[in-house]
Amino acid sequence: MSNIQQTLSIIKPDAVERNLSEEIKKVFKNNNFNILKEKKVKISKSEAEKFYQIHQTKPFYNDLCEYLSSGPIIAMILEKNDAILENRKLMGATDPLKADIGTIRKKYGISIDKNSVHGSDSEENAKKEIDFFFKD
Ligand code: CMP
Repeated sequence: MSNIQQTLSIIKPDAVERNLSEEIKKVFKNNNFNILKEKKVKISKSEAEKFYQIHQTKPFYNDLCEYLSSGPIIAMILEKNDAILENRKLMGATDPLKADIGTIRKKYGISIDKNSVHGSDSEENAKKEIDFFFKD
């Protein structure tokens, strides 16, 4: 049964800085994701705190927000059948060391923080995260 979904993807500062954006976008396209919208932005630390609010009690929250606001990122709306799960599979485990071969984080990620991409983890968060970057 068809279950077309939209999910939010971010190409993080470490990947943008290494000029990997086009290559990573190609990986999404080759895996039949449509990139419906995209924008390159640099967000402030307080915006990053809002974006990652869900992690506010975690010990890594401050570093995570510092990091996401440390340089330009590319936010994208990806669309595909079961896009949320499919994107998480394509990204691989949060820690690149634990990610399977063939995943984006395995190929491009440097560390658990500099793991090159973010993707929404549920329908509810996908809606919130898409609104965060694209509601105007
Ligand atoms: P992301 O999918 O963007 O969601 C939250 C981010 O927190 C995650 O990717 C990691 O880059 C980062 N992070 C740092 N430390 C941890 C940790 N111990 N567990 C999970 N995520 C972490």
